[in-house]
Amino acid sequence: MNRRDDIMVHLLTQYRAIPTMYRALTGNGPVFFKAAKELASVFQIKPEEVEPFLEPYREQIIYAMQDFRHYVNLIGDIPTFEEAYWPAMDEESKLVKNSAPFKIPWENPVILDIGAGSMPYLKLFQEVNLGIGCYIAVDKRYETHKPPVNSTDTTVVTIASDYAPMFPISKENTIINVLFLANFLHCLEDIDAFFDLVLPSLPSLKIIKILEIKPDWNLDFLFDYHMYEHCKGQRFNLKSAIDVAELTNGTLAVQSLGDFHNMYTIEL
Ligand SMILES: C[S@@+](CC[C@H](N)C(=O)[O-])C[C@H]1O[C@@H](n2cnc3c(N)ncnc32)[C@H](O)[C@@H]1O
Repeated sequence: MNRRDDIMVHLLTQYRAIPTMYRALTGNGPVFFKAAKELASVFQIKPEEVEPFLEPYREQIIYAMQDFRHYVNLIGDIPTFEEAYWPAMDEESKLVKNSAPFKIPWENPVILDIGAGSMPYLKLFQEVNLGIGCYIAVDKRYETHKPPVNSTDTTVVTIASDYAPMFPISKENTIINVLFLANFLHCLEDIDAFFDLVLPSLPSLKIIKILEIKPDWNLDFLFDYHMYEHCKGQRFNLKSAIDVAELTNGTLAVQSLGDFHNMYTIEL
C-alpha cells in the first residue's frame, strides 16, 4: 500500500473505537460484554481488564462521543448499514474471475447457501451448470432487509433466520446436496461447532464449497478496515479448510478464483 492508503486505512479503522469505548464504560449486560470483548482483542488484554484500562480516560471518552454524535447529526443522508453492506459485497464478488469451481458434477444440484447476503455468486452457479434444482439462501439479515430475489427465478428460496435455530430441521433438508458458504465462516467464532450443528441434518450432502478471501491478500483499504473490525483480521486459510475436511472425513481441493479469492471444495 502507498502512503495515502496507509493514512486512509488508519483513519477508517478507528471509526468504531469511540462508540465501543463509550459502551464499555457506560453499558450494562450484553452491551458491555460485547464492547469489552471487542476492545480486549484490540488492546490485547483480558475483557475484565478493559474497564480499568479505560476508566482514567472516562471524561475524554464521553466528550469524544458527544463530539462524534454532533458531527454525525450534521449529515442527514447517510445510507443505512444495510444499504451500504450488500452493494460492497457485490463489488467484491466481481473480483472472481474463474467460474469453473462453481461447476457441480451432477445435474440440478440443490444448493444451501448460508449467510447468503445478496447471493452474488448465484449467477456463477447458473452460468456453469446446466440447471439448478433449488437454491436455498439463508441469512439472518433478511429479517430486516429484503433479499434481492428476482421474482421470475422460481428456483430460489430465501429463509430469513439465524442459521442456528434451523438445525436440526425438517425432511426438506434431505434433498440438499451442496452446502455453499461464501465469506461466511470468517464471521463465526467456532467453525467446528457450526459443522457439528448443521451436518447431521444434511444426510444427502455430497459437497461443501467454501469461498473466502485469500488469507494473504489485502483488498486495499475499502475492505481491509471492514475485515479488521469485523473479524479482527482472522482469515479462513488452508489450515482451516484442512480442519473442516478432517472433521467431515472429506477430500479437500483448493482452487484459485482469481487474485483475491479461493474456493475450498470438500467432497464427502
Ligand atoms: C460477509 S457477508 C457475506 C454475504 C455473501 N455470502 C457474499 O459473499 O456476498 C456474511 C453474511 O452472513 C450473514 N450471517 C452472519 N451470521 C449469520 C448467522 N448466524 N445466521 C445467518 N446469517 C448470518 C450476514 O447477515 C451476512 O449477510
